[in-house]
Amino acid sequence: HTLDVELEAIEKGGYDHFMIKEIHEQPNTIRDCLRGRLDVEAGRITLGGIREYAANLNNTDRIVFVACGTSWHAGLVAEYVFEELCRVPVEVEYASEFRYRNPVIREGDVIFAVSQSGETADTLVAIEGAKEKGAIIFGICNVVGSSIPRASHEGVYTHAGPEIGVASTKAFTAQLTVLTLIALKSAHERGTIDDKRFRELLAELYRIPEKVKQALDMDEHIRKIAGKYKDAHSFLFLGRRYGFPVALEGALKLKEISYIHAEGYPAAEMKHGHIALVDENLPSVFIATRDSSYEKIVSNIQEIKARGGKVIAVVSEGDDVIPQMADDVIEVPETDELLMPMVSVIPLQLLSYHIGTMKGYNVDQPRNLAKSVTVE
Ligand code: G6P
Repeated sequence: HTLDVELEAIEKGGYDHFMIKEIHEQPNTIRDCLRGRLDVEAGRITLGGIREYAANLNNTDRIVFVACGTSWHAGLVAEYVFEELCRVPVEVEYASEFRYRNPVIREGDVIFAVSQSGETADTLVAIEGAKEKGAIIFGICNVVGSSIPRASHEGVYTHAGPEIGVASTKAFTAQLTVLTLIALKSAHERGTIDDKRFRELLAELYRIPEKVKQALDMDEHIRKIAGKYKDAHSFLFLGRRYGFPVALEGALKLKEISYIHAEGYPAAEMKHGHIALVDENLPSVFIATRDSSYEKIVSNIQEIKARGGKVIAVVSEGDDVIPQMADDVIEVPETDELLMPMVSVIPLQLLSYHIGTMKGYNVDQPRNLAKSVTVE
């Protein structure tokens, strides 16, 4: 028994929990994920896992993502990235809904199955059905040799290493990295991105591990914020555009780890219902980094403040407007808005981790949850 305890301590590499270890691994896992794939100097992306069916991807007029949980959120970010770069319509589906509702699938449609474990039953069955109808399946998975990659035509591994914590962290940012690489490469081959923007994004992608590291430096500051808000019964997470899926992911992390009710919303949509709940007991977490919707999100923050709500805002370094209205701010380095989710999700992972541990919960194995859901 003592041996087991010691072994586990070694595996945790000096951290108290796997979750926090995995959160801090992200600069390395993203770098690993880019290694051998991204060549900034040459302006080239190499993906060994998408060759034979690359033409299908580059010519399709519709892409569907199927996934569950955090992987579904990665699909939502990818929707915006693919539409922006490849100018192709994208749909993102919960695997469990997609498989049962007789979806329209045509010969040659491209489907991405996103799954950390590669074993999620709903995702697996969804792609098996779609494959029979002639769809081309790309698996975006972490566990090498798992069922979804085996059932796919081709795919790209995320190379995040084993993820032990039940709530997904480093697998999520690795999924975003891979999906961004695929979108960039395909856009370049489709001719929907100009060379300058392509090279700019490659260079910026290369800098993401360093920026994630800077975001992680906020750990202690975030722990203090967690202490202030840990007794709230409910949280609202708000973002626009690329910040919206991040808001959903922040809410999911908090629910999973801290057992606090949380909802993610598009910041503008809150006016159509959620704002009715806002008072001094309902904190709102804003993803409010500087991007094309910055001005709008500032007014959304004011709307919450005007109703007495507490605001925690994730902002870009050097922002001097939002800190004057928000109760607490967390700074992250600036990057292209398309890549921002990889950076802005970091403080939300840390916030849920600290609230969960302060409440004394088992953050690595939250109650009622499983790492991979192999039953429907
Ligand atoms: C479970 C896990 C989540 C994960 C989801 C999808 O709910 O607890 O962390 O996001 O399954 O899993 P997958 O392995 O398909 O990404």
